[in-house]
Amino acid sequence: MKGIILAGGTATRLFPLTATTSKQLLPVYDRQMIFYPLNLLVKAGIKDILVIVAPEHSGQFLNLLGSIFDKFDIRLEFKVQKVPKGLAEAFILGEDFIDDEPVTMVLGDNIFEDDFSLDIKNFKEGGLLFAKKVSDPERFGVVRFDDEGKAAQIKEKPEEWISDFAITGLYVFDNEVVKVAKEVKPSERGEKEITEIHNHYLGKGNLNVAMLKGAWLDAGTFDTLLEAGNIVKEKAIYKNFDPIIDEAIGEFNAELKAIAKKRL
Ligand code: G1P
Repeated sequence: MKGIILAGGTATRLFPLTATTSKQLLPVYDRQMIFYPLNLLVKAGIKDILVIVAPEHSGQFLNLLGSIFDKFDIRLEFKVQKVPKGLAEAFILGEDFIDDEPVTMVLGDNIFEDDFSLDIKNFKEGGLLFAKKVSDPERFGVVRFDDEGKAAQIKEKPEEWISDFAITGLYVFDNEVVKVAKEVKPSERGEKEITEIHNHYLGKGNLNVAMLKGAWLDAGTFDTLLEAGNIVKEKAIYKNFDPIIDEAIGEFNAELKAIAKKRL
């Protein structure tokens, strides 16, 4: 299983914060946002991770993450996404990296309380998504379930209500996803929508949509960014990180302190 974190985009909703750095490098409580999706993948035992970033912030991502896993059996690769053309494009940018394996993609601004290790380790084929009941479904990709609780319809940001269940930014797909992504045509807003991929798998009867148990936030607005920090603190999510990430951040901090001391 390969892992992708999509951390590109311009995040205009967070201007002026994102005029100087990437949204995914903004703090969520005591660490940069990107550590949350990174932790999710590492916890699930994924050892090859591609981080897709915007060109103007690529240096900052390298400074933070470039050598953070040197001691560990985890390989990070970086890819620059020049223009954000939709989430589905990540699988095209990642084609060589994904090679012939299945892939788990997490959006760089999605913060989850749940642990998905078993879901990801037990994944066999098709697609696996995770849904959560929300009060503002029009902001998301939305899934409607039938009477038996099976996914029946999926729509990106529906203007007319179809359901309260948002599809979260964690996607597990088999290797066919690369081919499917290439066939996605841009939507009216000019993006290759990931919901087109969902609908492909749904149409084939090969899509599972599981329900999230814990908290979930898409930290793309001032309010959800603040809420994300608060939830991470209240639910002590920062205390449940994989030991590898804790150690990597600890060493990074120690290096920073040593450099600061030398300068003094
Ligand atoms: C994207 C997806 C949407 C999904 C959401 C989760 O929306 O297009 O289907 O529900 O992420 O965070 P965006 O945040 O790009 O508007």
